[in-house]
Amino acid sequence: MKEIKIFSPGTIANVSCGFDALGCCLDTIGDEMIIRKTDKKGVQITKITGDDLPFETHKNVAGVAALALLEKYNKSIDYGFEIEIYKNIKPGSGIGSSAASAAGAVFGINKLLNEPFTAQELILFASKGEELVSDFPIADNVAPALLGGFTLVKGYDPLKVLKLPVMDDLYATILHPQIEIKTSESRAILPEKANLKDAVKQWANVGALVHALHTEDYDLFGSSLHDLIVEPYRSQLIPGFDQVVKTAKDNGALGSGISGSGPSIFSFCKGIQQAEKLRDKIKKVYKKADIPFHIYVSKINKKGIKLI
Ligand code: HSE
Repeated sequence: MKEIKIFSPGTIANVSCGFDALGCCLDTIGDEMIIRKTDKKGVQITKITGDDLPFETHKNVAGVAALALLEKYNKSIDYGFEIEIYKNIKPGSGIGSSAASAAGAVFGINKLLNEPFTAQELILFASKGEELVSDFPIADNVAPALLGGFTLVKGYDPLKVLKLPVMDDLYATILHPQIEIKTSESRAILPEKANLKDAVKQWANVGALVHALHTEDYDLFGSSLHDLIVEPYRSQLIPGFDQVVKTAKDNGALGSGISGSGPSIFSFCKGIQQAEKLRDKIKKVYKKADIPFHIYVSKINKKGIKLI
């Protein structure tokens, strides 16, 4: 195999209660990438459409992740790799734009090398790409992009990721206001310490959310979607946040929160009809905010990155 073309999906990190730990994979939002073997050694980014991102390998998350993989590949190869990135997910959207590029690069190169690395190793390499834009090798977007479904980063040192079950009727309605929030900036505003009482509620919600996924308990899942630690700070950066959350609540959503580091706002619904109805309601409400936006409905993607 000399070349592959992939769909690299968007993701919702944190899922409210699980800052830097929980994530899930989307189905209808994602980038396309082509990765091919070439005579020139190393990694070259040869094409980027859809956004103005750096072509220099060391400055591009896909390039950094690809280099992290090749550094651990212990066979000598007399060829290199070219990466083309067709972006649909806007950087600074909170829907895992950098993760899609980083995860897609390592997925593609691993395939072209005949899959020498495990999924856990690919997550680690992709997280090195994330470090370029977040100042920390965050794995809660790259893990669901690579594994699909819901994932939990059990630990960072060493990195260990668990794949959680997905409820079949779970859909996300995602509002993306067209403002950019850089992950590094939205991490910089967070406090270093959390209040113990809030932390108790938060880790109880993470446990309950994981249990809900295992027992297919939609109501428990919804009632676990609370973030007392990070959301109070970040929501201030998102115009109309409270109103969107209220609209979702009033229209039958299971729960809502900030997608990754924002500004996107997700709401989970049971069933596509509910999710589409909510999309139409949020559209109406957010038009008044006078900020351009995109809105998507997506099923939870169980497979992650796929060949196209
Ligand atoms: N968990 C990370 C954060 C995700 O919220 O900062 C970044 O997309």
